[in-house]
Amino acid sequence: MSDTASEPVMSDAQFQRLSAIIYERSGIHFPDNKKYVLESRLSRRLQEMEIDDYDQYIMFLSTGPYRDDEFQEMFNKITINETSFFRNEPQLEVFEKQFLPKILEARSTVKRLRIWSAACSTGEEPFTMAIQIHRSLGLRLADWRIEILGTDISEKALEVAQRGHYTDYAVRTTPALVKSRYFKQEGSQWVLDPQIRSMVNFEVHNLKDRVAAKRFGRWDVIFCRNVMIYFDDQMRESLLNSFAEQLADDGVLFIGHSETLRGLKTPFEAISIPQGFCYQKVQKPGLKLT
Ligand SMILES: C[S@@+](CC[C@H](N)C(=O)[O-])C[C@H]1O[C@@H](n2cnc3c(N)ncnc32)[C@H](O)[C@@H]1O
Repeated sequence: MSDTASEPVMSDAQFQRLSAIIYERSGIHFPDNKKYVLESRLSRRLQEMEIDDYDQYIMFLSTGPYRDDEFQEMFNKITINETSFFRNEPQLEVFEKQFLPKILEARSTVKRLRIWSAACSTGEEPFTMAIQIHRSLGLRLADWRIEILGTDISEKALEVAQRGHYTDYAVRTTPALVKSRYFKQEGSQWVLDPQIRSMVNFEVHNLKDRVAAKRFGRWDVIFCRNVMIYFDDQMRESLLNSFAEQLADDGVLFIGHSETLRGLKTPFEAISIPQGFCYQKVQKPGLKLT
């Protein structure tokens, strides 16, 4: 495609095929009125690949040796990796001040705590929890086995997470004391404390893949924030049911502040804490948070 060539146009039929492929692979749902969003996000990819039309791109995505690699490239274009350290601080306070002391008490015999940050993007979310646990346990941390896993569909986002170097933008909602205690400034970068980095592992995982999720075992806490907005109800229900299977009976699920489980058939009930956006399994003897 020459520099002067016009942007490829996506027909309705091409949109239907592409959105079906994307949904099938990831659960990300592009309703008909969001065709322009998909088109604007993918047109750059077609230009990079010097492909003229969406039929060729669909072929490339559906067949051939680079199919899986291209899916990764495509997800990098169509998903939003927006995140930050201490994103939605009031909710994180609920986690740290109300839930964490209780679950630590409940696990004080086994001294093992397992937390999953599902769709963690570039790692700020699970690292925030690592900081909260570090400062809550203090010297007692050495006696505990803390397992925090951050997963995302995007390999590129996880590469950033693994590096642990962040820009001003990533720490824009981070309290000053936390910045001075847990980061070192190197030029324009905020370098995360190596001890905090070592508390979190990262793995590529597609939330559509319920079977693969089983290998993670049981979690005490699941954070799944700001990704369900991209899914339809069917995918949300399926995901939430798999979370329920994987969450300890007294565990808690935290979701994004603009998300809700209302109207979905799930085994979760809301915990009524303002700003908490958190859920426990129905009819299970959960930790009393209120
Ligand atoms: C807006 S970010 C949310 C990051 C973080 N949880 C937060 O709230 O700050 C959404 C993330 O979901 C990921 N994502 C989208 N679809 C996914 C899927 N099917 N499986 C796993 N991750 C997915 C994207 O790659 C992106 O990093």
